[in-house]
Amino acid sequence: MCGIVGYVGTKAPVPILVEGLKRLEYRGYDSSGVATMNGDGSVFVHKRAGRVRDLEHSLPDDLPTANAGLAHTRWATHGEPNDANSHPHLSHDEKIAVVHNGIVENHSSLRTMLMGEGVTFRSDTDTEVIPHLIARFYEGDLETAVKRALRLIQGSYGIVAMHSDEPEKLVVARNGSPIVLGVGDSEMFVASDAPALVAHTKQVVYLEDGEIAVLSPEGFRTTDLADRAIQKDVDELDWEIEEIERGDFEHFMLKEIHEQPLSIDRGLRGRAMADFGDAKLGGLNLDRRAFFDIKRICLIACGTSLHAAMAASYLIEELARVPCSVEIASELRYRNPIVDANTLYFAVSQSGETADTLAAMREVRRKGGIVLGVVNVVGSSIARESDGGMYIRSGPEIAVASTKAFTSQLLALTLFALKIGRMRDLSSTAGRELIHALNALPDQINAVLAQSEAVKTIAHSILESNYVLFLGRGGNYATALEGALKLKEVSYIQCEGFAAAEMKHGPIALIGKGTPVIFLCPQDHLREKTLSNMEEVKARKGRIIAICNPDDERVKALADAYIEVPRTHNLLTPFLTVIPLQLIAYYAALALGLDVDKPRNLAKSVTVE
Ligand code: F6R
Repeated sequence: MCGIVGYVGTKAPVPILVEGLKRLEYRGYDSSGVATMNGDGSVFVHKRAGRVRDLEHSLPDDLPTANAGLAHTRWATHGEPNDANSHPHLSHDEKIAVVHNGIVENHSSLRTMLMGEGVTFRSDTDTEVIPHLIARFYEGDLETAVKRALRLIQGSYGIVAMHSDEPEKLVVARNGSPIVLGVGDSEMFVASDAPALVAHTKQVVYLEDGEIAVLSPEGFRTTDLADRAIQKDVDELDWEIEEIERGDFEHFMLKEIHEQPLSIDRGLRGRAMADFGDAKLGGLNLDRRAFFDIKRICLIACGTSLHAAMAASYLIEELARVPCSVEIASELRYRNPIVDANTLYFAVSQSGETADTLAAMREVRRKGGIVLGVVNVVGSSIARESDGGMYIRSGPEIAVASTKAFTSQLLALTLFALKIGRMRDLSSTAGRELIHALNALPDQINAVLAQSEAVKTIAHSILESNYVLFLGRGGNYATALEGALKLKEVSYIQCEGFAAAEMKHGPIALIGKGTPVIFLCPQDHLREKTLSNMEEVKARKGRIIAICNPDDERVKALADAYIEVPRTHNLLTPFLTVIPLQLIAYYAALALGLDVDKPRNLAKSVTVE
């Protein structure tokens, strides 16, 4: 989705802005642009369709001297991705520049009104109404004009505006689209996402919906739309610059797949109480009695987070013996959900900004439900608006294809299942066994990663196929869905995941000679059943690729190729079976020469519906 960067201070703004845009490239975009002050009372704008490096290389050598600027990466919603539709957009007098994330829902009526007043539009975007509206109200003070303009706008926005008559000022506003300020020494930064700031400062301020900030080299102040002053806390960002860089890895996706032993270890530290076979989770904001009242659990999410939630639901029901349902956020939000007092809801989201998950969470809370967040990005909207929750601690996830967040979300929910289970029927012995198995996961994941060459061979073997089927049962049904999502996202190969027993109810029609069928078949209570499904594929000359345990000779004998995953606790197998699937997707995309970290049409956090 779109990215915003802004700077005001004593340094040359353009290099800072372009570097910030590069840090946001992972979010997905199709064009970019930068604006800064011209010395002559106008605004300098340079923007174009394509990559940030194209923008950078086409910049003139003699950039104007200025103290402020703003920049944007655009992911097209209204109007095709071309130079004119790229941000920043200018007012008709070319004195005001604006970058905007979100959607102006009433843009067409505002456009008609402005055109009636003689304004000429230069783009097809919804955003362009914003600088024109600000200009309409401008009487020497940008902050006041922005506030008056925003009162007319319906929809969501994160915006940064500047005016060439106020060359050391940026005005920033948020309503439904994330904005974070960075506090420097005689300089201020603003961005839609913290990775754009982390090279400059770790002192950050998260704007809330309805808040306006005015930035200058001296600092910032915040108000609401009605001019009431708002005091904001400055938080410390806990990311290191290395965490948002590729290091020795060719792609962020590969780096993040390889980070999973570390992120699992981090997720367990201080939370898994091996002696008591229990989990300690600060931040849930639930008193002990509230745990007894929970009669049902509902997990709300989208995409990979939805699959992590599905895998977790098996664990929760098994360990806690509490019914657990999983809801697609976009469906739940429009279904007039039935919310009851004894259901505990979780919004599961890596970014904490996914529009549908956020809206579903708000709807449930509006109806009186308690919603906890399972979130990676500290300070994100879901983290701030939920009633409590757990950070998954997987560290920044930059690749568009989510990998380490899956295992970390599953881990956080497993620890929650353990905690509630231990308050009910789960014995300390069973709890200790689970923790023992959880503690072994980092080494076991490393053992799977060590088979990368074998996985690569398998990935290459599926490239000629026009269809790949992923099958699993129990928690590994969710893993099958995730494996298929990953493969289609980055390699664009047609594939789907199914519950293994469902194969006979439809997908079997697609299996012919050589069709790759990837079976998740660890030695658990469902293995015998999955073996029968393998026989059915074999009978149709499909090509069986098995993810199985090292000593499973029967599966190996049936399979055309296999990857071994170490044995673990029956409930924890998805933590290991998902790793080869992530690698298959990665190596398939790589072999096809695709841009693994920036798959077509996808964006990192989906902040629009
Ligand atoms: C898949 C992927 C998406 C996200 C989904 C939810 O690789 O990244 O499917 O999982 O958009 O995003 P979050 O977890 O940020 O709510």
